[in-house]
Amino acid sequence: MNRPPPTEPPPAVRGFIFDLDGVLTDTAEFHYRAWQRLADEEGLPFSRAVNEHLRGVSRRESLMLIVQDRAYAEDQLQAMMARKNQYYLDAIQDIRPADLLPGARPLLEEIKAAGLKAALGSASKNAAEVIDRLGLRPLLDVIADGHSVAQPKPAPDLFLYAAEQLGLLPAACAVVEDAAAGVTAAIAGGFRSVGLGPPERVGDAEVIFPSLAGVTLTKLLAALA
Ligand code: G6P
Ligand code: MG
Repeated sequence: MNRPPPTEPPPAVRGFIFDLDGVLTDTAEFHYRAWQRLADEEGLPFSRAVNEHLRGVSRRESLMLIVQDRAYAEDQLQAMMARKNQYYLDAIQDIRPADLLPGARPLLEEIKAAGLKAALGSASKNAAEVIDRLGLRPLLDVIADGHSVAQPKPAPDLFLYAAEQLGLLPAACAVVEDAAAGVTAAIAGGFRSVGLGPPERVGDAEVIFPSLAGVTLTKLLAALA
């Protein structure tokens, strides 16, 4: 009798790469409000619904999605990005550990206690400041942020950098994302993927939860098994 050829089981998940904005804390809302203020000042159409497409997208790409085919000189674009960033920086000054989203800290603590690895994988150039304000540094083995790689999500580069720094293969890492661009990046890099939010946004992820609330390590590993 012919046996089917043995199929390689995926390696066990040894590490997690967390997006920041909209995953660990609600700074996605601050990014949105900063863009909305800029768009209103510039008379550019923008809304919360349009903002869904900006989740996880770099500062420059976000601005390009807002200005679309309107002609702006490079120095005008730079000035608008700087203004938006200042609005965002103003908004994050008061962030405290209490601003962590439900479930985020307990999950990171469980990961550490279990001897697994955790990295940040955020496109934001302000991510390190937010992580410090949230008091999360001691729970993260690696910080990969908007300064780490040239190609932003949906390219897999940021997550590949994080996995390399963790010393793990992509297939042994699960990326936790709230953005379509982030889920696409995870899949492109050969990572396991966990989407947080509505299926319309993160439906391509292997595993989907509404948020990290109530998501224990056991639950997460079982869902990925
Ligand atoms: C994250 C956020 C985006 C933001 C991007 C760049 O991916 O989800 O909304 O545009 O980071 O952030 P930055 O702080 O560098 O402008
Ligand atoms: Mg995000």
